[in-house]
Amino acid sequence: MKHIAYVTDTELIEAVKNGLSKSPKSLPSWLLYDAIGDELFQLIMRLPEYYPTRCEYEILSKHKEDFARYFIDKGQSFHLIELGAGDGTKTELLLDALQHAAAKFRYSPVDISDSVLEQLNKKLRVRYPELPIQPLHGSYEDAFRLLEPATRKVVLFLGANIGNMTLTQVNKFLTQTSTRLSRNDMMVIGFDLKKDPRIIQAAYDDKSGVTRQFNLNLLHRLNRSLGAQFILSEFEHYPTYNPETGTAASYLVSLRDQDVFIKALNTTFHFSQWETVHTEISQKFDLLLIERLLSSSGFDIADLFFDKDHYFCDVIAVKR
Ligand code: AVJ
Repeated sequence: MKHIAYVTDTELIEAVKNGLSKSPKSLPSWLLYDAIGDELFQLIMRLPEYYPTRCEYEILSKHKEDFARYFIDKGQSFHLIELGAGDGTKTELLLDALQHAAAKFRYSPVDISDSVLEQLNKKLRVRYPELPIQPLHGSYEDAFRLLEPATRKVVLFLGANIGNMTLTQVNKFLTQTSTRLSRNDMMVIGFDLKKDPRIIQAAYDDKSGVTRQFNLNLLHRLNRSLGAQFILSEFEHYPTYNPETGTAASYLVSLRDQDVFIKALNTTFHFSQWETVHTEISQKFDLLLIERLLSSSGFDIADLFFDKDHYFCDVIAVKR
């Protein structure tokens, strides 16, 4: 397999050193997305239990013209910026509607993965030969530094990606984004909503075990890229959902007392039996919380769109 540089080795080493030295142990969720993790996530999006992708696809299919109308506003040209664009399947719905409405805009997918951006860019150039595409390689913060203040902006943050942040991080992220935008610029955010806790629990604990593989691949990645000596069968995937806080959290649980050497860190880490490594949160929201978060970071809600079950919600937020 081709080695793809998603992040620098120093970033990787720092993240792992910090995370495994903490008590309780934790590793940041971006570590889940290497080349294999990206492929596993593609499979997750097609799982019968994983409803968010289907729900948001339903929303965008049904309301793409409404979205286009909001983006086009009074007909001035705009810059469409997508944070974490992925494979662009959902974005194509919006691009189709925008083209159909003869919108004047540029499109900038933002991603930390070079290979994801390259693939997306190739695909979109074929499908939309007239569309100016300007991929931005880097973190969200990097991308925002490259934006021109004078242009009208529409920022897409779809796919419940916002759920990977803690509420404190969401607040900070929205406030920072808001300061980079001008009055009447827009943000479209996909929020996964609170629902029957069993449905949420099942979405992170699918019967076929793909999510389990996705989570365990994090250790596999550390083996491959840092010369770590994790034995994957000595850890188990354990997803939880707390309906009181709306937080889904995933862990890797050590099945026995063990020491793991990581070559690139020249360090051995001890794992007690049943010790946990926190790997990911997937926050679920309700409308009160969404309103509070947006309002306190300088946005007004222009519109909200739901799937038929009200499992998911795409919000059009306008910079105040
Ligand atoms: C891509 C962050 C939205 O949290 O639902 C899916 C990632 N992890 N199954 C989510 C994920 C396990 C996903 N997000």
